[in-house]
Amino acid sequence: MAAFNVPSNVYSFFHRTEMSRAWVKKAMDIMPGGVTANIKSFPPYPIVMKSGHGAYLEDVDGNEYIDYLLAYGALLVGHNHPKIKESIVRQMEEDGTNLFGTPHEREYRLGKRIQSYYPSMEMVRYTNSGTEGTLLAIRLASSYTGKQKIAKFEGHYHGGYDQVLFSIHPDDQNAGPAHAPKPVAESKGIDPNYEKNIVILPFNDLKGTEAILKAHKDELSAVIIEPMQGGFIPATRSFIHGLRKITERYGIILIFDEVKTGFRIGIGGAQSFYNIQPDLTVLGKVIGGGFPIGIVGGRKDILMECSPSRSANLLGGGTNVLFHSGTYNGHPTILAVAEAVLDILEEDGKAVLKRTEQLKKELEDLFRKRGIPMNALGEGTIFSIVLSEKIVKNDRELQTTNLSLRKKIDYLLLNEGIYTKPMNRYSLSVAHGEREIERTLEAYQNVLYKKL
Ligand SMILES: Cc1ncc(COP(=O)(O)O)c(C=O)c1O
Repeated sequence: MAAFNVPSNVYSFFHRTEMSRAWVKKAMDIMPGGVTANIKSFPPYPIVMKSGHGAYLEDVDGNEYIDYLLAYGALLVGHNHPKIKESIVRQMEEDGTNLFGTPHEREYRLGKRIQSYYPSMEMVRYTNSGTEGTLLAIRLASSYTGKQKIAKFEGHYHGGYDQVLFSIHPDDQNAGPAHAPKPVAESKGIDPNYEKNIVILPFNDLKGTEAILKAHKDELSAVIIEPMQGGFIPATRSFIHGLRKITERYGIILIFDEVKTGFRIGIGGAQSFYNIQPDLTVLGKVIGGGFPIGIVGGRKDILMECSPSRSANLLGGGTNVLFHSGTYNGHPTILAVAEAVLDILEEDGKAVLKRTEQLKKELEDLFRKRGIPMNALGEGTIFSIVLSEKIVKNDRELQTTNLSLRKKIDYLLLNEGIYTKPMNRYSLSVAHGEREIERTLEAYQNVLYKKL
């Protein structure tokens, strides 16, 4: 089992989750740590789920939870939405197949609809995940500029591959000064050559960012950014508008990684919230309605780098073209789901935004009355519970907040039927109604007043 560092007064976790413990133990025979992704693990063992519906998850012990993890934000339409189910069946009936392996109409239709919400995406390409999306965006930037280096911000995640898996939660000793952070690999096994091509920037520090970009301007192809770090620490308006100006000045491609923020900070994502046109955008998570997808889009002159008309061979590759391929790119069933996701959000998206605001405000009131400083930090339908007097602006500041109390509260909330992975952010869905908000507030009331 994972190293045991559960807060000491939450032992009832064990009693409520005996079957989960047994399942994870069994799964460890066949999967390292009993999980298929390291992020799904937490001490003493992750809770194993059996079913989901609407805003709820049920675990293998029969405990019910209001789900605020929502598959790391992917499920803005909740679990098992009837329109999603219908869209899958209809696609298979209408198309007679669930994979063409050729161009098809939905690719164009969805692309046009995405573009109506993300006008910066003059052209698009589909991928199978956010990770593949950022990988393509970075290659597009390198191909277009003829340069290899990329800059990313400390604390930002863009997928688990060697080019970008640096400085997400770096340890203090190796991370360098706040205004000039150093790259710290987040995994064993990363080819050290990648470290030479990554530049780390300080989030929400325009002066520090400008100095670094200026020093590397001739080598950098792109700056990639989560416009809201981790989905919930917003860039200040002056920072992000300043970054847009600096990247323009130095001819560096600005990539907005909106895998978390896309559709969640309002339907038009962070770029609509800030009124900024990035050069390239990556979408994922929400638009797939629970199925794997990524969408890369942006300036036509950049996207055209991967046009097969430039290719000299039958693979669509060669030295004059950016190679981009994938058996499942533009999967018709998933694109049909994506169209249903947009239908649902066009109808119910505004209500989720309102309900999130209500929950944030009521939670802040509750903490204030209990005398615990807390910001429900975030925009749109994502936020995190940050235990601090001040509004944090980046990962280093987040690390100075009361993380041990937050952890304790999270474990106690699991016992009250409120699910997010301990220390994770909260996401809401169209299925989170008044009843779920009330139950959540009651659970918090119990924890803050009776269990702490
Ligand atoms: C901002 C961001 N970019 C990229 C990714 C990678 O996406 P995926 O997990 O779909 O590969 C994630 C996933 O959490 C993400 O949050």
